[in-house]
Amino acid sequence: MSDKPKGKLNVGVDLGTSNLLIYVEGRGTVFNEPSYIAVDKMTQKVVSVGYEAAELVGKVHDKIEVIKPLSNGVISDIGMIKEILLFTFDKLFVNSTSQIDRLLICIPSEISETERAAILRLGHELGVEDTRIDEEIKAAAIGCGVDIFHPAGRFVMDIGGGTTDFGVLSLGDVVLSKTITVAGSYFDKQITEYVKETHQLEIGPQTAEKAKVHLASLTGDLPTDENGNVLTFEVMGRDLVGGLPKMVVLKAEEIRKVLLDCFESVKASLISTLEATPPELSGDLIDNGIIITGGGAMIRGIQQYFADVTHVDIHISETPLTDVVDGTKKLLKIDQKHYFGEF
Ligand SMILES: Nc1ncnc2c1ncn2[C@@H]1O[C@H](COP(=O)(O)OP(=O)(O)OP(=O)(O)O)[C@@H](O)[C@H]1O
Ligand SMILES: [Mg+2]
Repeated sequence: MSDKPKGKLNVGVDLGTSNLLIYVEGRGTVFNEPSYIAVDKMTQKVVSVGYEAAELVGKVHDKIEVIKPLSNGVISDIGMIKEILLFTFDKLFVNSTSQIDRLLICIPSEISETERAAILRLGHELGVEDTRIDEEIKAAAIGCGVDIFHPAGRFVMDIGGGTTDFGVLSLGDVVLSKTITVAGSYFDKQITEYVKETHQLEIGPQTAEKAKVHLASLTGDLPTDENGNVLTFEVMGRDLVGGLPKMVVLKAEEIRKVLLDCFESVKASLISTLEATPPELSGDLIDNGIIITGGGAMIRGIQQYFADVTHVDIHISETPLTDVVDGTKKLLKIDQKHYFGEF
């Protein structure tokens, strides 16, 4: 355990492609909002962050830019990540990041060394000497209650906004991991393409995401409303033929078809990760099964879908959107990188 000076705080950050979450020791998860930032292009001043910035997507004039600083699990704009963190930390710590003793930022497994170095530098620029980074998949596993600290294989799949991460963990760390960019945003893009081709309608990314969240399913009966009618969702956009605004009613079966196509790659990557897993750990999967977390874990029928693929138990996290940040809570207490035994 760390010898913390009195009044100093440990802070954990899940820097997600879709959502930014911040945990502050003693205060809990104090920030959980979309990873968007709106900036005044003339003055470079931050206009808003999180929900307020997300509301502006596609609706601003040319003097304001709305930026998502991570895409496909890759940091596309480190400067803007710094601005988002500065803006939120200023609000959370009343202009004093000097209250932060230890800062843990969770990042995707396949991030480059340059990106790692940039994140660490960022922590130092924020004034936190003890800045650490750790892998999202590890934090996610701990956050959803998996005991990764024993010599037994644990398999976790995190279907986020930018990436789907597969991780095999044992003895407190990641043994093997794989990341693909087939995840929430990709599903939204494929829905957009489908609507364009099938209904000659151009829709925005936010609309595609809403349709996905409302209708998403992979197996089993199609989702229904309280009257037993198969769910539908009205999407508005621009008619590709006439150029005028148009509304189309999307059916749950249409979204299932798009998602099933997307999940072919998720399935293939899961199988290739299982094939690459050392045999002793692979055997543990029979007892422990696979845990699914991240926003994609909420797709209806996902448990049965992967049970059919793998023939092992599939556990769906009950808190898929907060597992990574919940995991930071424990990771922040660890002084050494590898930890064995109980906390
Ligand atoms: N009920 C739902 N059904 C399907 N998808 C959902 C649902 N709820 C949220 N999502 C999707 O989950 C994704 C966000 O998940 P999450 O917050 O785990 O991502 P993230 O951590 O920000 O991204 P990453 O880990 O890839 O950097 C979004 O694409 C969102 O549309
Ligand atoms: Mg995530």
